[in-house]
Amino acid sequence: MWRSGGGCLGSLAISCDLVVKNGRVFTSSGLSSIDLWIRDGRVAALGGPNRAEEAIDARGLIVLPGALDVHVHFRDPGFTHKEDWESGSISAAAGGVTTVVDQPNTLPRVSDRRTFQQKLDLARRHSVVDFGLNGGPGRIEEQAAAGAAAIGEIFTYEHTDSALVKILQETEAAGLLATVHAEDGGVIEEGTSSCRSMHEPSAYSRARPALAEEVALRKALSSSGRLHICHLSTASGLNLIRQAKSRGREVSCEVAPHHLLFNVKDYGRQGSFLKMNPPLRTQEDNDALWAGLREGSIAILASDHAPHLPEEKKDDIWEAPPGVPGVETMLPLMLMAVKKNMVALERVVDALSEKPAEIFGFPSKGRIEVGRDADLVLIDPKAISKIRADRLHSRAEWTPYEGKEAIFPKMTVLRGQVIFEDGLEVRPGFGKFLARA
Ligand code: DOR
Ligand code: ZN
Repeated sequence: MWRSGGGCLGSLAISCDLVVKNGRVFTSSGLSSIDLWIRDGRVAALGGPNRAEEAIDARGLIVLPGALDVHVHFRDPGFTHKEDWESGSISAAAGGVTTVVDQPNTLPRVSDRRTFQQKLDLARRHSVVDFGLNGGPGRIEEQAAAGAAAIGEIFTYEHTDSALVKILQETEAAGLLATVHAEDGGVIEEGTSSCRSMHEPSAYSRARPALAEEVALRKALSSSGRLHICHLSTASGLNLIRQAKSRGREVSCEVAPHHLLFNVKDYGRQGSFLKMNPPLRTQEDNDALWAGLREGSIAILASDHAPHLPEEKKDDIWEAPPGVPGVETMLPLMLMAVKKNMVALERVVDALSEKPAEIFGFPSKGRIEVGRDADLVLIDPKAISKIRADRLHSRAEWTPYEGKEAIFPKMTVLRGQVIFEDGLEVRPGFGKFLARA
């Protein structure tokens, strides 16, 4: 893309570091043709005659706020053969994600000040995008003090009902958001014992039925004030969330692209590669989740980026580890969904940028607005390409979306600095820690 010195003088001019010119910029009033002026990493002005040291020509492009992915598993420390902070964050940057929130199920698990700090040190040295870190069940107060974005994902099936209540209450007492992976252990146990002898991949979905999500949601909703539900996967779960919201409950939820775009029929082609928790559901569930996303009762899109190596994923459905990579393909797939009129651009930007910044407490992120960080994604809406694993950057080296059409960013900017254009443009460690506000 054309980059040069960018002068534009006027008597009230602000001196800026960078101007993004000639693009259609997404602000609170939608897309408009304005120049975007950046100073000290923040948006300094929208429009107006200013001057800047450098210019980026965004002619023909739309300029969106950088996406936040509040649910990634970057596997570092402990499972760096699957992903690490560098590979995961480069994958994020290439996909237009400028902020991630990492989950605590690494090795050691994040559960107290020491393990939180250990991960924070790694992320600070290696991440190319900004990041929040979730704490895990354990010493919740300590992790709140260390700046945890939230507590979770709390895997409900790992805890007894009373332990879960205690975790949710401690999280609330510490002033933190609890993010809940809603699948009930009792329902899973029963389902698994009746399906374990079958080896077709769909047996895995039957072993963890929609009822598991419903029961876990009811339990979590009955014992906590404020909740965030990770990767909602069923129509019945969505109805419970709608009802809780209409009763005034403070509950938000996210959906992952894989639960929108795949269902049990897709096991036929991809088998255990499509094993994930919660598992694939039905076409009716896909349709309901799209509706929930469109209407906003599902506030957030998050990838649940959960990389595992292809050698592991090709095992028998019961042996393969659950999870699919997705941080790099989320925004590109959703821009394609906009193109196909599945969802409005405004709602996608809201679900990828504004709502996650608001719900997870990152006030400098989420919008192109004067004073906020200049985190930008430059998109050519006509540049449709097919997703190919060998062009992605995750250490997973495979994608469930192989061959699907998508619109990848031309350029990703973080705090006024181009971090990705055809390749990485900054050193690992450019990413900054976002302690929860
Ligand atoms: O499929 C999943 N994989 N779901 C989760 O909740 C965890 C994740 C992982 O860490 O592999
Ligand atoms: Zn997860």
